[in-house]
Amino acid sequence: MTHDTTADAPIFCRQDGTHTVEWWRDAVVYQVYPRSFADSNGDGIGDIRGIIRRLDHIGALGVDAVWVSPFYVSPMADGGYDVTDYRDIDPMFGTLADLDDLVAAAHDRSLRLIVDLVPNHTASNHPWFLEALVSPPESRARQRYIFRDGKGPDGAEPPNNWTTVRGDRAWTRVDDGQWYLHLFNTAQPDLNWHNQEVHAEFISILRFWLDRGVDGFRVDVAAGLYKENGLPDWPYATFEYSDGKSPMWDKEPVHDVYRAWHRVLAEYPGDRILIAEAFVQQPERLARYIRSDEMQQAFNMPFMMAGYNPGALREAIDTSLEVNGAVGATTSWVLNSHDAIRTVSKFGMPCLSDIPRGIGPHDPQPDVALGLRRARAATLMMLALPGAAYLYQGEELGLPDNTLIPDSARNDPGFFVSNGAYAGRDGCRVPIPWIGTGPSLGFNDTGRLWLPQPEDYAKLAVEQQIGVPGSTLEFYRDALRLRRDFVLGSGSLSWVTSPEKVLAFDNRTVRVIANLSESPVALTAGADILLASDEEAVSGGLLHPDHTVWLVHS
Ligand code: NOJ
Repeated sequence: MTHDTTADAPIFCRQDGTHTVEWWRDAVVYQVYPRSFADSNGDGIGDIRGIIRRLDHIGALGVDAVWVSPFYVSPMADGGYDVTDYRDIDPMFGTLADLDDLVAAAHDRSLRLIVDLVPNHTASNHPWFLEALVSPPESRARQRYIFRDGKGPDGAEPPNNWTTVRGDRAWTRVDDGQWYLHLFNTAQPDLNWHNQEVHAEFISILRFWLDRGVDGFRVDVAAGLYKENGLPDWPYATFEYSDGKSPMWDKEPVHDVYRAWHRVLAEYPGDRILIAEAFVQQPERLARYIRSDEMQQAFNMPFMMAGYNPGALREAIDTSLEVNGAVGATTSWVLNSHDAIRTVSKFGMPCLSDIPRGIGPHDPQPDVALGLRRARAATLMMLALPGAAYLYQGEELGLPDNTLIPDSARNDPGFFVSNGAYAGRDGCRVPIPWIGTGPSLGFNDTGRLWLPQPEDYAKLAVEQQIGVPGSTLEFYRDALRLRRDFVLGSGSLSWVTSPEKVLAFDNRTVRVIANLSESPVALTAGADILLASDEEAVSGGLLHPDHTVWLVHS
């Protein structure tokens, strides 16, 4: 990539000089979870200067963009997805000047920088919510949120029967007896998007960050903003029928919000983007978020949730390519995030059809060698699919979750709300190992850690893998380089006949064979192996189970 400095805003060109206008269509985006990436001041929590120091690692991977999870002022009741001030950086992460430096440092390396936007709810100490708490019912301040009187003679029953995404009651009562709605936890009150003041505020927030040079926004809970008028009771779990049928998800007016935001971004140079994090069950409904006048991309949740199941993966691939293609959008592919068990752990679990919500010390433990083999196989398949791909920090190292975090060290609200029944998401959020020794493996200089690293992270540290043939890091670099060289991101997929549980397809000149079955598969003669998911993938002309290869005709 080269950086064209002749224009006002950064313009990114392919190394071969071909200009891509819609860079995001085949981009690879690397997610940074700032608490856990790198800690420059030694307080045990990652920060923006830490990201800048380690940015060359991301640059050397060969990705196109970095998406940074929230760094805004926050009480961290939900890892920063509870925002107190949308226009400032939490001191634990740094300052606005640090953020400006990060944008510049990313652009210097031809990396675009995407930030997170959390429009469904604020933190409960957001100035608006504090004002609402001391204001009377029906006041302007209360109307920015969803306050209602309770049911029953003294209003002691919540206004309806909704539960949060974590299964507890979605309403909290305030001192004067009214209740407020929160689809997540009680410290995350839902905003009232029927109120124009909320719209205006978020347009202004978008402009604030666009003016600072960010290249786009990952939009949190993108399907949740509108709740059906009247807030009718809902007999199912919160996420059931999340495709427009339930009163809390995927309501029609949300699309006007994204059309308005699309227009705002279009006023800025440099092809800036919106990415939907929308839990919408039907892929056709998800595709509506990425129609040409709305967002540019949506996380492919069905693909991620297909797990290590060849039938479900093929179905997710076919359906998403079809429905997204029908609206002129490209598909995104994602296997890991800060909300999900890392694939190395998930795919190594003894029972793939019954994965717990986070793996803790009380759960069956994964076989991480098997999990890593499968994770690499799935990744190699994913990176050959046409469209954009999202990677989560540490997956390029083959990190497993820390599945042995003691209950006393847990942080995720999901653990507490379930009274410890679910381990939650801490396991995938553990600080990154940069070097193979020292108390925090190079995460900082002091050894302080907000979540404990497991023992096996030492041998998986970046420094231990650089230049080591066959290491997961070198495997990712190779895959990303070849994906670019063979322009797979902008190619197309055609399936090739294959045995059951084997996914085989052609994309441009590359044939991809992912053997997710229990038996070896014979490779046809006359093809060279471009890349294999690991050194044991192929022997005697056979592709072994839980491995993937990219082939080209010799
Ligand atoms: C999705 C985010 O990825 C997750 O971490 C967060 O808990 C919820 N949205 C609520 O904001």
